[in-house]
Amino acid sequence: MKRILNIVGARPQIIKAAALTRAVKERFASALEERILHTGQHYDSNMSAVFFDELGIPKPHYQLAVGSGSHGAQTAKMISGIEEVLLREHFDGVVVYGDTNSTLAASVASAKLHVPVFHVEAGLRSFNMTMPEEQNRIVCDHLANICFAPTATAMENLRHEGIADSQALFADGKGRKVVNSGDVMYDNSLYYAKISASRCDIIERLELKNTPFVLATIHRDYNTDNPDRLTSIFSALLAIARQTRVVLPLHPRTAKLLEQNIDSQVYNALKAAENVLIVPPASFFEIIELERQAQVVLTDSGGVQKEAFFYGRPCIILRPETEWVEIIAHGAGILADADTRRIIEAYSTLVGKQVQFPPLFGDGHAAERIVQEIINY
Ligand code: UD1
Repeated sequence: MKRILNIVGARPQIIKAAALTRAVKERFASALEERILHTGQHYDSNMSAVFFDELGIPKPHYQLAVGSGSHGAQTAKMISGIEEVLLREHFDGVVVYGDTNSTLAASVASAKLHVPVFHVEAGLRSFNMTMPEEQNRIVCDHLANICFAPTATAMENLRHEGIADSQALFADGKGRKVVNSGDVMYDNSLYYAKISASRCDIIERLELKNTPFVLATIHRDYNTDNPDRLTSIFSALLAIARQTRVVLPLHPRTAKLLEQNIDSQVYNALKAAENVLIVPPASFFEIIELERQAQVVLTDSGGVQKEAFFYGRPCIILRPETEWVEIIAHGAGILADADTRRIIEAYSTLVGKQVQFPPLFGDGHAAERIVQEIINY
């Protein structure tokens, strides 16, 4: 029996870990025992606990409760907390997800103790080194014993950085493996789409049944922390709200900075705009239902971009670039950055557009493939 530690901390990681937990429970329970460590990077109940309840993941066995802080302080607390757990108990490997500060801390703590690191969602690149997520994912990919790439583009990115199958790089003479596993979020989208409608009432509660609306999410630090960018994005949302309803589940980072960082005129218009529904962060079932029903999705989130694609919804990306270049290449998304005019034009171009979903993100069995590789390693 192998023993692995799943390390999560931020909202999207809890959702990605659910795919592995499901695969272990359904197919590999006799070969693999998993434990969960929660760093506490996200701590509000609607950013964390709700996902454990909804997705049926066991409660974390270890909780570090590090909370918010500067990048250095937050990451340092996580590294030392994870190290303590890894020194106390034996694990055959640590599974890390995506690109957050929790992913970085987990990879650094484990690699230094020669505990194998398995990176799920490896090889994504925005080629924008100002993003904390880009810095985090580059370090994690270089430290990982197995890189699980979700797409062919991610495989290619890893190859360009010299990250490839190799011999004897790690403790016990172990080598590195690079695997095109497919995307665990695609597994999740297939699985949860079947049950989300019956498990939440967000469409009825927000009175959206048979009402066209766009879904918007904004949380990236370079949007929330920059008054010009945040004001431009909200000006565009207000213009779109003259044509259709806008639903905006608000991330706590954005909620804290909204009044301080957007122009007061735009802020007052936003407060008065009946067509803009600002709601608390959505649960996973709720966001799936909103994504499935929206005319168009506006987002700076990587995960939401992709889910829009999975559910055949066109997407406006509020960033200068994206790691998920396939979405743009298939005409299912437009990069509009934080430019009011480009966002409004993109909305006109995409509204009513039917998006086809070619199978670019795997076959819905990524998690099983990942668990099998971990057991074999
Ligand atoms: C983090 C990830 C980002 C991911 C996102 C998903 C990093 C560098 N960024 O961004 O890649 O897409 O999570 O949501 O790791 N806050 C609360 N309650 C919470 C969580 C956060 O109030 O439960 C507030 C705090 O003021 C905190 C701020 O939000 O300082 C930012 O949180 P943080 O975890 O640092 O980054 P995110 O913006 O959530």
